[in-house]
Amino acid sequence: MAKTIVITGAGRRMGKQLAEHFLAQGWQVIAHYNTRSELESHPQLTQLQADLSDPDAIAQLSQQLQSLGPIHAFIHNASCFQPDAAAEDSVEHFQRHFNVHVLAPSELTGSLTWAEGAAMVNISDIYADIPNQRFAVYCASKAALQNWSLSMAQRWAGKVRVNVIQPGPIQFLPEHDEAYRQKVLSQSLIKQELGYQSVIDSADFLISNPSLTGTVMRVDGGRFVTNRYEQTFSNH
Ligand SMILES: NC(=O)c1ccc[n+]([C@@H]2O[C@H](COP(=O)([O-])OP(=O)(O)OC[C@H]3O[C@@H](n4cnc5c(N)ncnc54)[C@H](OP(=O)(O)O)[C@@H]3O)[C@@H](O)[C@H]2O)c1
Repeated sequence: MAKTIVITGAGRRMGKQLAEHFLAQGWQVIAHYNTRSELESHPQLTQLQADLSDPDAIAQLSQQLQSLGPIHAFIHNASCFQPDAAAEDSVEHFQRHFNVHVLAPSELTGSLTWAEGAAMVNISDIYADIPNQRFAVYCASKAALQNWSLSMAQRWAGKVRVNVIQPGPIQFLPEHDEAYRQKVLSQSLIKQELGYQSVIDSADFLISNPSLTGTVMRVDGGRFVTNRYEQTFSNH
């Protein structure tokens, strides 16, 4: 019988590629999407819509997932990436980020029926560990997702393995201009956009390796350990 995986934010970009990857591997894929899905229909694919910034929509999706039988893997990929300036740190801005990044995975997985040997992978960001004053709320909520994941690794020990992937520059957004791209890439050791496959391979590894739980895996081209002294003092 095919294994079942739930992937959030699977309508476009990396989530879509993750869904297509697991379909190609013979998995039953339950793909959540928010505004629209670019996934083509497939006999092993179920698509469910929900705005994960809305607690009522999260609760409704949670109920739908509970009726779908044992889950072998869950990837929380959905993400809200908005600068603070747009909202001036408003309550709604905080709630949106924390709902999408922390409340949603907590509510969606809290009453799931897990299959034996199940695994959860949560997609964080290198900015969970590196401050960024323009995206302080985004960073804080990704850090919260990361810390919550490690607590769940403890709580669900022996039942569900929980690991985190911290991507670096995987795929720039269309609005990122050339100057921004070059600046980010200059601050990594592998000075290139890493591509979705780098995270797909890492997710595969974390889901299939029974030894791994409570791990935070950096898939950042070495950005975390790039020489920070040079970044700060090279012009002095
Ligand atoms: N791309 C990178 O270089 C990079 C770097 C660091 C970390 N990451 C992380 O890697 C993951 C995938 O990256 P990505 O660039 O593919 O992400 P993305 O396009 O920014 O977002 C992923 C998905 O989240 C969904 N989403 C946004 N708001 C939502 C909401 N309110 N409710 C439910 N879903 C919502 C989006 O759907 P809609 O468009 O329909 O709203 C989108 O399909 C994300 O977790 C991201 O934070 C990526």
